[in-house]
Amino acid sequence: MNLIVRPRRLRINKNIRSLIRETKLSVDDLIYPLFLVEGENIKEEISSMPGNYHFSIDMLEEEIREISNLGIKAVLLFGVPNEKNPTGSEAYNDDGIVQKGIREIKKINKDILVITDICMCQYTDHGHCGIINEEGVDNDITLEYLGKIALSHAKAGADMVAPSDMMDGRVGKIREVLDANGFTNVSIMAYSAKYASAFYGPFRDAAHSKPQFGDRKTYQMDPSNSNEALREVELDIIEGADIVMIKPALPYLDIIKKVKDNFNVPIAAYNVSGEYAMIKAAIEKGLVDEKAIIFEVLTSIKRAGADIIITYFAKDIAKWIGEEM
Ligand code: PBG
Repeated sequence: MNLIVRPRRLRINKNIRSLIRETKLSVDDLIYPLFLVEGENIKEEISSMPGNYHFSIDMLEEEIREISNLGIKAVLLFGVPNEKNPTGSEAYNDDGIVQKGIREIKKINKDILVITDICMCQYTDHGHCGIINEEGVDNDITLEYLGKIALSHAKAGADMVAPSDMMDGRVGKIREVLDANGFTNVSIMAYSAKYASAFYGPFRDAAHSKPQFGDRKTYQMDPSNSNEALREVELDIIEGADIVMIKPALPYLDIIKKVKDNFNVPIAAYNVSGEYAMIKAAIEKGLVDEKAIIFEVLTSIKRAGADIIITYFAKDIAKWIGEEM
């Protein structure tokens, strides 16, 4: 054959392949989620998310050191409180589980970026992401609570807050409250395009945050929509979001790409619990190669346009990137 152009020339060996590689994962891209529980001496594997643990505050030191040694620079904290009530008051308790966790982590390593999830579903007895009225979740009343939670986290030392509730106007409200209290340098990573997804199942087991009635479809987005994601992202940017997030990641790579093509703020993607659990299950069954599939999946998220990846695989991937260097 007289072929002038042969794409295989650039695949001929490892060094050529790495020379022309367009997308490379870096530990700098990663955020690792952590689940904090009350009590002492607890490091318990989360059954729905093997390889991830519930930590009591006193057990964080070893974990934080390990994360830092791997080069991971940011963690995302979720609290699992003992006490739940209609207004989720443990969420804005200055001595609540997340607030204590922030202070402890900063004591262990003041440089690690501490990001906190701002939501109410783990804290309310009904398991919804806001305050309930006769019609459902009351948007505007919930905003007051979200402001209080964000302020409480900022006071405890959070570097960044990440509202995941999907109420309208929450980014603006949180920005206003933080600024009014002198926290102008605390940034906001908004869960902007957060879909009403079945992929959150394992997380809801881990965080005990399943809604006790109904579902989250009046506030989280319909998986069928993508223009709506652009509107949500645009609104969050106008309201002051520093980083916008798409969640879940894998079934929504098209949304990541679309947001990347339309906006110029940093984009985060959340490789959520169901994506993790699904891949883990396939690995455990011996159906797929562990390292290869995790690299492939996370690379696809970055290739689609994500600058930041929140993933339960963060420690694995950081280890492997370290070994390759
Ligand atoms: C809280 C919240 C959820 C997740 C992150 N923050 C659950 C939900 O909305 O039901 C899911 C994360 C994951 O599945 O890994 N609202």
